[in-house]
Amino acid sequence: MEVRVPSMELHRSPPFLSGGRGKFFLHKPFLVQAKRLEGLEKANKRSRGTQSSEEVKKRAPLTRGTVSPPLPVPGHITQPPYVGKKDTPEIASEIQMHDKVSIVHMKAACELAARVLEHAGTLVKPSVTTDEIDKAVHKMIIDAGAYPSPLGYGGFPKSVCTSVNECMCHGIPDSRELQDGDIINIDVTVYLNGYHGDTSKTFLCGEVDDASKRLVRVTEECMLRAISACKHGTSFKKIGRRISEHAERHGFSVVECFVGHGVGRIFHSEPIIYHQRNNGPGQMVEGQTFTIEPILSMGSIECDMWDDGWTAVTTDGSLAAQFEHTILITKTGAEILTKC
Ligand code: MF3
Ligand code: CO
Ligand code: CO
Repeated sequence: MEVRVPSMELHRSPPFLSGGRGKFFLHKPFLVQAKRLEGLEKANKRSRGTQSSEEVKKRAPLTRGTVSPPLPVPGHITQPPYVGKKDTPEIASEIQMHDKVSIVHMKAACELAARVLEHAGTLVKPSVTTDEIDKAVHKMIIDAGAYPSPLGYGGFPKSVCTSVNECMCHGIPDSRELQDGDIINIDVTVYLNGYHGDTSKTFLCGEVDDASKRLVRVTEECMLRAISACKHGTSFKKIGRRISEHAERHGFSVVECFVGHGVGRIFHSEPIIYHQRNNGPGQMVEGQTFTIEPILSMGSIECDMWDDGWTAVTTDGSLAAQFEHTILITKTGAEILTKC
């Protein structure tokens, strides 16, 4: 049965005003619908992660800075088709498959994304602003003849996502200075020769406490464990199982309102990749490219969205971390494309 996706992601469904509380929070119509259709509820008797007994440094709640105007892109750089359109594209229902030629393009886009992310990570230091990181990322992508995929995606105003502390994802770069002890996810996507490469990492800013470091380490391990389970013929549901098992073992919880996705000529397509335990259908096929991008939280997995329509934060202010790779399914396994 066809499942209609109301907006770009499950990732980012339209927010609505919740009765009484007077603030925005994430509405998950598609996810809820998909669960009903696929009977995911039964498999979803997950346990909530618990706050670790290690000391988590008290951080001030995330504050917003000023967002500078979008950076210009030279005319010779090809823009993806969604740029200039206000609506967030729907998740395309086609699964993106590759032959020898398109794999070469995919690899080039993914390698560029990985190099840009590595460079962005070197800039993470106390007093640096996320706007400065955005500028550096934008320049490096443009200089490589590519387009920064987030810029203009559903009206996203900057070239990269920077998600600090309790921000789960889709943070908008602004004038806020990074502080000693912050954690920050930088999510880079580039559009090169008609192909998107999508990757993110959570970086440590200055001296970060051990509990927060553990969250970051375990999140990366979850992603890598899921990737090592992938190959032609493997069920997609194995991804959620691998991730949940490892996260729960460490007392962390897996965020459900954001998903991985097919990636290639189109930024977001099927297959939708659930990171939580699920009983969804389908097996991986050689030649597919998709992302695995789990978000783990130290506490709540529910999110509030800021009224900028993008910044998704944990409802209880607990810390969240995310890692993301674009992978290619092969006969014998999965190749990580977003590596330098
Ligand atoms: N890179 C994000 C992902 O992993 C999507 C960012 S879209 C933006 O799918 F508009 F928020 F930038
Ligand atoms: Co992605
Ligand atoms: Co991404």
